[in-house]
Amino acid sequence: MERLFLFERPYSAIPGIFPILQVKSNQAEPMMQLTRSYDGTGHVDFVGAGPGDPELLTLKALNAFERADVVLHDRLISAEVLELAGKSAVLVDVGKAGFGPSWKQEDIDALLVDYAAKGHHVVRLKSGDPTVFGRLDEEIEAVETAGISWQIVPGITAASAAVAGIGQSLTRRGRNSSVRFLTGHDMKGFADHDWTALARPGSVAAIYMGKKSARFIQGRLIMHGADRDTPVTLVENASRPDQRVLATTLDQLPTDLNAAEMDGPTLTFYGLAPRQAAKALTEFKKEHA
Ligand SMILES: C[S@@+](CC[C@H](N)C(=O)[O-])C[C@H]1O[C@@H](n2cnc3c(N)ncnc32)[C@H](O)[C@@H]1O
Repeated sequence: MERLFLFERPYSAIPGIFPILQVKSNQAEPMMQLTRSYDGTGHVDFVGAGPGDPELLTLKALNAFERADVVLHDRLISAEVLELAGKSAVLVDVGKAGFGPSWKQEDIDALLVDYAAKGHHVVRLKSGDPTVFGRLDEEIEAVETAGISWQIVPGITAASAAVAGIGQSLTRRGRNSSVRFLTGHDMKGFADHDWTALARPGSVAAIYMGKKSARFIQGRLIMHGADRDTPVTLVENASRPDQRVLATTLDQLPTDLNAAEMDGPTLTFYGLAPRQAAKALTEFKKEHA
C-alpha cells in the first residue's frame, strides 16, 4: 500500500498547540484510525533506535515496534529504522523539520501523554541510546505524573558505533581507564567541563554535538595545558553507508573540521586516533569514491 505523507497537520487535541506534525502511515487517516493497544491500556516504551544502521537495533526494540500503535520519533532516526518502526504504526516526526520550527519539549511531553491516555501503545523513538543526551527524564516525568506505565529499551549510543568505525576501543589497559561522554553545548550555550582533568595526557572523551563548539573546546583544552598534538577524530554518520572519518589533532581541529564540511550527525573523539588499518581503509575509500 502506498505510504501517506502529511505535512503541517495541526494537532488539535491539546488546546494552543499547533506544531508541525509530519505523519507517515500506511493508513489513509492515521489520526482517526489509530486502534487501541493490544490490551486497551496505554503504555510508553522509550526506545533506543541506535546510530542508524537497522542491524544495530535490539530485538527488544523490534518487539516494541510490533506492539506500537504510534511512534513519535526524532529527526536523527534513519529512514531504514523508520521503515521497520512504522510497519503497523503511525509515525509522527517530533524533531526539527528542515529549517522550520522545532517541537517544544512540553508539546512532545503532552502528545506522549495524550496518545497513551487514550489507550495507545506509544513508542518514543530516540536516536542512539535514549539515556544519553536524550532529554529522557523530562518525558518520563510527564508520563509518570499522568500515571502511565513505561519502560526504557536501551540502544547503541553514537560513541559505541563511532569507535567501532575507527577500529578502536573506548578504554584500553595502560592507555585510559576511564572515558567521558560530553556534550558540546547545553541549554546555556557551549558546555563547561572539567578542562583540567580532560587536558591531562591519556584522557579520552566522546563529544556529542561537538561541531559548533569545536573551537571553544580546543581553546579551553589548550588553555588548561593540553598537548596540541593530542589526536582528535570525528566520525560523521557513524554506522551508516555514508560514514566519514576525519583524523586530526587538537591544534588543527577547527581548520580541518571547517574544510571537511561535515553536515551529518558527528561524534568527536578527543584523545583517540583511528587504528592505522581503519585510517588506511578510509583513505582508500575516499580515493575510490
Ligand atoms: C541529541 S544527541 C543524541 C545522542 C543519542 N541519544 C545517542 O545515544 O547516540 C545527538 C548527537 O549524537 C551524535 N550522533 C547521533 N547519531 C550519530 C551518528 N550516527 N554518527 C555520529 N554521531 C551521532 C551527534 O553528536 C549528534 O549531534
